[in-house]
Amino acid sequence: MAVTGVFSVFLRTCPAAPATLFPLTKAYIIRKYCTSKSVSDVLKLDIQETTGNIITNPGWVQAIRSHKGICFLDINDGSCIDCLQVVAKSDAMPDEITIGCSVQIEGSLVGSKSPGQSSELKADIVKVIGACNPQEYPFKPKARYHADFLRQLPHLRSRNNIFSSLLRIRNAATMATHKFFQDRDFLNVHTPIITSNDCEGAGELFAVKSANTKVEDVNFFNVPAYLTVSGQLHLECMACSHSKVYTIGPTFRAENSKSRKHLSEFYMVEAEIINTKTIEDITQLIEDFVKETTQHVLEENSEDVHLFHKQVAPGHREIIDKMLKCNFNIISYTEAITLLEKNSEQFINKPFWGCDLNTEHEVFLVHYFDDTPTFVVNFPSEIKAFYARENDDSPPTVSAVDLLVPGIGELVGGSLREERAIVLEEKLKNNGLLDVYDWYVDLRRFGSVPHGGFGLGFERYLQFLLGVENIKDVIPFPRFTHSCRL
Ligand code: 4AD
Ligand code: MG
Repeated sequence: MAVTGVFSVFLRTCPAAPATLFPLTKAYIIRKYCTSKSVSDVLKLDIQETTGNIITNPGWVQAIRSHKGICFLDINDGSCIDCLQVVAKSDAMPDEITIGCSVQIEGSLVGSKSPGQSSELKADIVKVIGACNPQEYPFKPKARYHADFLRQLPHLRSRNNIFSSLLRIRNAATMATHKFFQDRDFLNVHTPIITSNDCEGAGELFAVKSANTKVEDVNFFNVPAYLTVSGQLHLECMACSHSKVYTIGPTFRAENSKSRKHLSEFYMVEAEIINTKTIEDITQLIEDFVKETTQHVLEENSEDVHLFHKQVAPGHREIIDKMLKCNFNIISYTEAITLLEKNSEQFINKPFWGCDLNTEHEVFLVHYFDDTPTFVVNFPSEIKAFYARENDDSPPTVSAVDLLVPGIGELVGGSLREERAIVLEEKLKNNGLLDVYDWYVDLRRFGSVPHGGFGLGFERYLQFLLGVENIKDVIPFPRFTHSCRL
């Protein structure tokens, strides 16, 4: 078989090119990049089948114990929840070995008598790569730290075992999101971060301008530019040519809110589909997404999730299991308001038809439905963004949906989109927005199609899954009102 182009260059630079293409390149890659092993790799090795010495990747010392002239180290490199136990004679340990230092070990795999592990690494060489002053290092061995404390150390908190689990869970949830949509033939689209649209029309925008003093124009792009509050409008363009699309992207909101579920920079999973008939087309997609993604993460990262459900939110697993088994409830906004009004004395913000739902209202509704996820549909037009499809009723409502979940309140916002050019034009005109969104009406002028979609706050989803109180503890580097030094 003739191998041409870039791949042939790759093969020519590969010294020992075997006959079959795939095994050859894979072997080459393993030789080139994987001469040392991660903690996860080592812990997966079968002790009976492993001979010779192993060299580990650099990892960080989590604990040190000495017993009768033998020294034990616990090493973690973030590749899994478990530490690798390393054993060596105390006099063979370098003097600089301390908690927090980075080390690389060479040694052989042997059976372990310590509880909770079948093997350990008997070290021939313990090499300290980077020393660490234990007096100044903020973490002590085996100690548990409150999230408030860890939040003060955003550059170091990934060394903590809970936060390390969080990062692996975030990774698994991201992969599960892609899998969900790819399995259903959705196209992944990268929507822009800089835009001139205020999709939600709430004015919660961060302006973007050049910091280069040599650039004279205040509007670098000729028009005012902002960080995106949602990729929806751009996704709609792509849905109106590719039918089923999704994105996972950073989203920015200049909300003056210091609440435990608001960030200035967060990630949103957004999807858009055509050929929608009712709002149930969207609620079904949302319900399938939340359940399937959760199932996937629970299967792929059971130990990491278990750590949260044991240490951070005892009892929370029951809420998640209940969610997986139940059918999500659907209630109209009007029904929700009637229910809230009947219990008006419980609320600081008194409910009335036309009001936006407050967190206290959302918490009440979810609790009313036995702490299971609840869709609220058909909101008053007045309180939803311009793009939501008008229902033909009075007082006017739109086919919009919010998904409310236990412990959080709103997790997802979505709607059918107004696909009728005349109705949309009229609405935009009334709001003085027709000029700005003329391009958006084009999607309706040129081959319009019924469509709709949703946006799920990725951090709120992780809060819900893991029972984490504060949204700042489920994102690597939280940006929020008046944060942050990193
Ligand atoms: O309800 P929202 O504002 O909906 C939209 O932006 C739609 N354009 C999405 C779409 O239909 N494609 O935001 C969607 C979700 C919310 O339900 C919430 O979970 C999350 O984004 N969210 C926030 N998460 C963290 N911090 C904030 N400040 C958030 N604002 C919204
Ligand atoms: Mg919303």
